[in-house]
Amino acid sequence: MQIIKREQCKQKPNADAPLGFGHYFTDYMFTMKYTANEGWHDAKIQPNEPLRFDMATSIFHYAQGIFEGMKAFRQPDGSVGVFRPDENWARMNNSARRMCIPEFPVSVVEEGLEELLKLERDWIPHGAGTALYIRPTIVATRVMLGVHASTEYLFFIILSPVGSYYAHGLEPTKLLVEDYYTRATLGGTGEAKCLGNYAASMKAAEEAEAKGFDQVLWLDAQEKRYVEEVGSMNIFFVIDGEVVTPALVGSILPGITRKSCLHLLRERGYKTSERRISIEEVIKAACDGRLTEAFGTGTAAVISPVGLIRYKGVDYEIGGGKMGTVTKLLYDTVTGIQNGVIADEYGWMKRIS
Ligand code: COI
Repeated sequence: MQIIKREQCKQKPNADAPLGFGHYFTDYMFTMKYTANEGWHDAKIQPNEPLRFDMATSIFHYAQGIFEGMKAFRQPDGSVGVFRPDENWARMNNSARRMCIPEFPVSVVEEGLEELLKLERDWIPHGAGTALYIRPTIVATRVMLGVHASTEYLFFIILSPVGSYYAHGLEPTKLLVEDYYTRATLGGTGEAKCLGNYAASMKAAEEAEAKGFDQVLWLDAQEKRYVEEVGSMNIFFVIDGEVVTPALVGSILPGITRKSCLHLLRERGYKTSERRISIEEVIKAACDGRLTEAFGTGTAAVISPVGLIRYKGVDYEIGGGKMGTVTKLLYDTVTGIQNGVIADEYGWMKRIS
């Protein structure tokens, strides 16, 4: 793979400065182009610097774009481990099909990511709870204003050293149940990781943040009754000892951390179910003391405890506002596997030497 070197590298963030999420970016990026005539071509690593685009480039107008989120971790033997990248590539090609973007060759981006990580390994942060976040993205690059799928695309991967997604770290989050705005509907793009889903969620998020909440808990678009997801995380509840998460009905992102948690719980003998969960059921269980835990799962959010939900103006505290035992078990196991301190029995970590 061609590597175009830069003259001067950036200054890395201070080792003891809090990284937050998505504020720092490494020196290089992977890029690959698509044209109707040549297909995906020109895969290379180049300096991560601003590129120039015509103002009529279709991504700016119609948001025909998709992305993924993965993480790379330092391993005790000095190697680098990436958590379940095959799952992300498969999901990204599913998103591509939904958004009329040509599927990309996984082997080429796999090699691109490997080369990029070898070049950027010094950017992987050392602190507990940190990682090198990997953001693969595809954007439509044809210069054209007609509302049609583009015939040209840019695939790129940028890297960002990150800490906790939430400013308050592992403190339980507060969620506002959103019963007016809609994130996604059946037949829409909710299960694709496309740019527009995130833009559509910002109004509700902004209103929730102004009221002191971290995120909104989305309900289904049809009845505003069934719990869907949080937008940056999938959601789980522990009700009567059973770990329940909304079934993937088409409007929910099929999370890879979600899938991993279900696997870990089933292996450990927990009763789990993926089904429709009404908000009334959650509220009733909270009132009866049967809702013992709630937590979100996601690449960025990892496993985040939920300490409070507000529905129709009433606050319901969950688990005494503390991280519960199932949440802690999952957090310790997932991060343990990612950091190489718990044996990777399932072959989830891809090693890069
Ligand atoms: C992720 O968890 O990687 C996400 O994409 C969620 C959010 C940061 C957009």
